[in-house]
Amino acid sequence: MMYAERFQRLTALLAHWQPLWGTPPFTHRCLPWAGAYPELYQALLALDDACVERLENAPLADDALAAWLPVTELRALSHLSEHPARVPALPNAWGDHVGGRKWRQLQAFARCVPANAGPLVEWCAGKGHLARTLSRMRGCKVTGLEWQAMLCEQGQRLAQKQGVAVTLAQQDVLAPNVGGWLDGGGHAVALHACGDLHVALLQQAACRGVSVTLAPCCYQRTAAERYRPLSMLGRRLMADAGLVLERDDLALAVQETVTAPPAVSRQRERAGARRLGFDLLQREVRGVDAYLPVPSLAYGKMPADFAGFARWAAAQKGITLPADVFARRNWEAAGQARLAEVQRLELARHAFRRPLEVWLLLDRLMFLREAGFTASLATFCDRALTPRNAVLCATPGGQSESG
Ligand SMILES: C[S@@+](CC[C@H](N)C(=O)[O-])C[C@H]1O[C@@H](n2cnc3c(N)ncnc32)[C@H](O)[C@@H]1O
Repeated sequence: MMYAERFQRLTALLAHWQPLWGTPPFTHRCLPWAGAYPELYQALLALDDACVERLENAPLADDALAAWLPVTELRALSHLSEHPARVPALPNAWGDHVGGRKWRQLQAFARCVPANAGPLVEWCAGKGHLARTLSRMRGCKVTGLEWQAMLCEQGQRLAQKQGVAVTLAQQDVLAPNVGGWLDGGGHAVALHACGDLHVALLQQAACRGVSVTLAPCCYQRTAAERYRPLSMLGRRLMADAGLVLERDDLALAVQETVTAPPAVSRQRERAGARRLGFDLLQREVRGVDAYLPVPSLAYGKMPADFAGFARWAAAQKGITLPADVFARRNWEAAGQARLAEVQRLELARHAFRRPLEVWLLLDRLMFLREAGFTASLATFCDRALTPRNAVLCATPGGQSESG
């Protein structure tokens, strides 16, 4: 299917189903969409644990919810094929100073950068791990742009130690002078550059006719509270379908995380149950049936028992707890029961996670096409390595693939 057609259909589906995917179940004791989709609601609550786990890992992989949701169509519309480029595995020594998972991501991403790309600029380079990898693979100079002086210094030392032609420049990529780095043409690369940072790259690349290999990340990290499509087509489709995306909506696109080790998953579950238990408690104590956001706790800082957590959370929100509050109910058990419900109801929302991400990618692709680029989307690695595994490849001019 052509990209434009996919974009159009996804816009229509996202708009139609927004009441369902736009509401995080943990914020509502009675979900607003339950009345409109009672069968789906009941079917979700009736799912067994094995099915929940399967759908959590791959919301569109099977048809368990296909009687109520357009699963087959969402799967087809959000499918991206694997990038065709192959390169032999790189020497492991090149990955020194890079974590194992990151090193595998870098290798997979680097192969998508065309061999004849010209002078390379890495956007938001951190310590320049990708820049060093590309410089070694291609035997070329690479400039990395990074705003943290400390990362630039550390990265420069690594490049010197490895004898690699990488220069790390301290640069705010949102500053107006950033375009100067792309004036010589060439090719810009960015691996997991967040919201406004990668949008700035696309805008600079479009103005200057610079080709791009980009794996976007964290679409919700933007100054704007409401999403404004980059492409003219996106603006028209959103207006026609009445689709409005707030910043919080965009977070759904990147909610998927790599499966955690069992001990970490258990800790997360316990924290989730306690939060939901506290939510029930605060509604009763305040006499207000509304969700109250509680700040997150650093890893390993969870108090030993529920009462400790509830006292901490109440203090954060300025709530005075009645002396008998913990005798009134087993709040932790209530939180656990609520967690089982919330996990099931979340699955309906998760079915739209990848479609929303692909929609955002298509907006970026269309923006570059409208600027006269040839552009395509693919995956650069398996999602187990990183769920942010989509890559946008674009070159000025040429014939656009139908894709
Ligand atoms: C998510 S990391 C990605 C780093 C690297 N590309 C990677 O994949 O490991 C984002 C990087 O962008 C940098 N950054 C954040 N805001 C920036 C800005 N306005 N200008 C330049 N770099 C920025 C951060 O310091 C961080 O090193």
